Amino acid sequence: MSKTPSPSGSQAHAPRRGLAAFAIGLGGLLQLGGALAETTPRPDWSHADIPAQDGRIFLVTGGTSGMGYEDAKALAGAGAQVVIAARNPERGRDAIARIRQAHPNAEVRFEAVDLADLDSVRALGERLSASLPRLDGLINNAAIMAPPERTVSADGLEAQLATNYIGHFALTAQLLPLLRRSDAPRVVTLSSIAAARGRIDFDDLQAERAYDPYAQYAQSKLACLMFAFELQRRSDAAGWGIASFAAHPGVAVTELVRRGPGLDSAFGRDWARDREDYHSAADGAIPTLYAATAAEAQPGRYYGPTGDDEHRGPLGLARVPEAARDQDAAARLWEASERLAGVAFR
Ligand SMILES: NC(=O)c1ccc[n+]([C@@H]2O[C@H](COP(=O)([O-])OP(=O)(O)OC[C@H]3O[C@@H](n4cnc5c(N)ncnc54)[C@H](OP(=O)(O)O)[C@@H]3O)[C@@H](O)[C@H]2O)c1
Repeated sequence: MSKTPSPSGSQAHAPRRGLAAFAIGLGGLLQLGGALAETTPRPDWSHADIPAQDGRIFLVTGGTSGMGYEDAKALAGAGAQVVIAARNPERGRDAIARIRQAHPNAEVRFEAVDLADLDSVRALGERLSASLPRLDGLINNAAIMAPPERTVSADGLEAQLATNYIGHFALTAQLLPLLRRSDAPRVVTLSSIAAARGRIDFDDLQAERAYDPYAQYAQSKLACLMFAFELQRRSDAAGWGIASFAAHPGVAVTELVRRGPGLDSAFGRDWARDREDYHSAADGAIPTLYAATAAEAQPGRYYGPTGDDEHRGPLGLARVPEAARDQDAAARLWEASERLAGVAFR
């Protein structure tokens, strides 16, 4: 989520779309020195391009609103079996009813989980391991943003780090055996353009000394991005067979601001004033859906919109903040996360 207002007007996208299409034609599938070059996604890749997902099983965290709901709806519409995991069963029922209105045969169900409670995450992992034959896709999407006051999770961790990052770290570890039963498992973890302002404060990960709601959100989203890359490296090294992706939606109209800083905060008022400039949750879901389903998506990459300073527009490779390229920091964060979450990946 950005604090920077977006320039308005759809014409702002036109030159970038042209450039991106040119870049694909030129460099899309070049082999450089034997290694596979980065492949730029087709900039107009969209819902209609989702390949059939019949027989594939996905878990979407935070699928009761915003992008997670759009992910669940699109995946179910493409034939996948979808499990939505979030806190509120009533919102779960409502999401399922709306998905079934669009896709009457949708195979979708709700599982309650509070990502800010490691016992709840463990219990979800156990229920899914007992009820599913395998997991083909995990979408680590749920989040909260910038609650004005510092609050802590059931385990005493700062709430944004706990919900957005540590809960997903624990969930992914818990589900690794189930993912490994798939012949092509994918994990997509949601970051944000806010990650570019993030810093992993190893001396005060929980913001116990000083709490800045936006800095803490940015840290949690940088941690998600570093996790997505580190998961790919660890999977490659250990032979887990996981394809790990990061994605961000740009800026999309969802529940995140209303339920975080609030619409009557300074941030919320700016956001409400500029909301015409943001795109829909359905469009914000495209980078995630590409990572989760496209045959040509490349493991270890970060996808997002490329227009209006990455706020919306054509799909492409997202800019990776310098801090997310630091592999020593990523390894250190992984080890700290194993301790905080009380899990190990095996
Ligand atoms: N909107 C944007 O412009 C924007 C920009 C950059 C990145 N993102 C990222 O996009 C992702 C989706 O956000 P959104 O904008 O779609 O937000 P949203 O509409 O507020 O949806 C958030 C979802 O997370 C769930 N959730 C929140 N806390 C939870 C917890 N403790 N345990 C389980 N589920 C929890 C909520 O469900 P319940 O309340 O039912 O539990 C809800 O389904 C997030 O990762 C966010 O950081 C959004």
